[in-house]
Amino acid sequence: MGLEVKNIVAGYTREVPILNGVNLTAQDGRVTVILGPNGAGKSTLLKTIYGYLTPQEGEVLHDGKRIQDLKPNQMLGEGIAYLLQGHSVFPRMTVEENLELGGWIMRGDQKRMQTALDFVYARFPRLREKRSFLAGILSGGEQRMLEIARLTMTGPRTILLDEPSVGLMPSLVDEVYEEISKLKDERYTILMVDQNVRKSMSIADYVYALALGENRYEGPREEMEKKLDDIVREWI
Ligand SMILES: Nc1ncnc2c1ncn2[C@@H]1O[C@H](COP(=O)(O)OP(=O)(O)O)[C@@H](O)[C@H]1O
Ligand SMILES: [Mg+2]
Repeated sequence: MGLEVKNIVAGYTREVPILNGVNLTAQDGRVTVILGPNGAGKSTLLKTIYGYLTPQEGEVLHDGKRIQDLKPNQMLGEGIAYLLQGHSVFPRMTVEENLELGGWIMRGDQKRMQTALDFVYARFPRLREKRSFLAGILSGGEQRMLEIARLTMTGPRTILLDEPSVGLMPSLVDEVYEEISKLKDERYTILMVDQNVRKSMSIADYVYALALGENRYEGPREEMEKKLDDIVREWI
């Protein structure tokens, strides 16, 4: 079932909607990528899905359940985790404390928290080695790995990623994409936006292109790759 966005109208004020009837499906166990120029409404769409913005019209369904009236703090309970644009680690907290924050909904249950930490450390052994280091002294790539690892603490099924590779040098971009590929292999449902168009296309199953808060193009990765030059040319 995955995540379905149906005819969403939303924005920061009622007078000026940013999203003008967007439709999208992020299929279960697949990677869905949203492309579009700056200001197209990609981040606004993710914020609306996660309950930071209330849509004026339309529906958001997760595994068939309407979630558009839920608040962001209820989303982990629905099995959805979100890497906000402009994300970062808490530099003066340890790696492990950062992970525990990702699992805050389990904070009263030390056993469950430990199980979650063990699960994340098994997947990200470098974080286990550095569990007691302050997050601020990790390399840029390791910090990004920690941000992604933190998302998996609560065992979500669906992960929203807004600009996961932003600000990283090319070799670290590759590292981040390796981690996202692992999440893909583990069949998480992933809906992501990244300014690194080619990289994000390389792991996509299905791609949407938005323009001015509306659907512009969509298709399976292979089909969208053929159109990519035309799509990107429209942005400039
Ligand atoms: N917090 C905000 N308040 C008001 N307008 C905003 C806010 N954030 C974004 N916008 C506006 O919404 C539009 C879409 O922005 P955004 O969703 O961030 O685009 P994208 O992520 O595709 O670059 C832009 O015109 C932007 O100026
Ligand atoms: Mg954005």
